[in-house]
Amino acid sequence: MSELAVITGTTHGIGRVTSRELACAGKTVVMLCRDVTAAGVVRDEIRQHAPAARVEVVRCDLASLASVREAAAAVRRDYPPIGLLINNAGMVSTRRRASPEGFELTFATNHLGPFLLTALLADHLDKAARIVMVASRIHYRGRLDLAAVTNAQAPYGATAAYAQSKLANVLHTFALARRMAGTDITVNCLHPGVVATNLLPRWLRIIKPLISRVMFDAERGARTSLYLALDPSVAGTTGRYFDEYQLPRPASALANDVELQESLWRKSAEWTGAPH
Ligand SMILES: NC(=O)c1ccc[n+]([C@@H]2O[C@H](COP(=O)([O-])OP(=O)(O)OC[C@H]3O[C@@H](n4cnc5c(N)ncnc54)[C@H](OP(=O)(O)O)[C@@H]3O)[C@@H](O)[C@H]2O)c1
Repeated sequence: MSELAVITGTTHGIGRVTSRELACAGKTVVMLCRDVTAAGVVRDEIRQHAPAARVEVVRCDLASLASVREAAAAVRRDYPPIGLLINNAGMVSTRRRASPEGFELTFATNHLGPFLLTALLADHLDKAARIVMVASRIHYRGRLDLAAVTNAQAPYGATAAYAQSKLANVLHTFALARRMAGTDITVNCLHPGVVATNLLPRWLRIIKPLISRVMFDAERGARTSLYLALDPSVAGTTGRYFDEYQLPRPASALANDVELQESLWRKSAEWTGAPH
């Protein structure tokens, strides 16, 4: 496998630890981040852990399809084929907001951006590349309402929007794995655990010491991403959903619905203009 790892959202949390550990494992790490100053701080921190590591930053705001196109073009132009693509970045918007191209922001950032990025990098992958999608257990509560993604008047709830976007991550994983069948490229997704990062509401992070037995720190939250990225035992495993203990688990019934996977794929391709 190529030694080049591309990972999104490394300024905080799970992505920050994952990128550091990939560098320590000898990977060249390209960090796709919207805040390149914050990413530069993380890059310098990683270089202290792994002085010989090659760690670089490419600007990418996943909420913006134009920014994703620029980032993908830079990766294709400046780097050799990718051995590892980790779609890690994620967010939740507390109120309905629109992305630059007019899509509901949580869905745009967590699904449409990664969908386009993955499609644009698909023919720049090593022949035995691994693709890892950081989804969530909350996908079990997700429902797909694609009409609401472009309807600024549709009712909005942050939890429902986040759950929908994470369901989309799992649907995307399974549809992509089917398209990669017959190659040595693998595609898997995961739940990292409930992890004390910026993503969680502030009050939950404050009571973390009280519930530390059920809440992971970012070091622990990165374990399943790193397992799927590096462990030889999953070299041939594809199209699976893993839990926070690195165990394969059945995804939700909706996530396994092939027609739903394909309708999300068609709409995502139409909206993003992704190559087929
Ligand atoms: N924490 C949990 O309990 C939990 C549970 C299940 C799944 N997850 C998933 O784990 C992944 C990592 O989240 P985390 O918990 O580590 O959260 P985090 O600490 O908030 O980190 C999220 C990362 O995503 C980046 N990001 C957000 N919006 C972006 C955008 N528009 N473009 C580019 N990067 C963007 C952030 O960058 P900025 O610094 O620019 O904001 C940050 O680096 C997410 O996909 C999340 O859904 C987390």
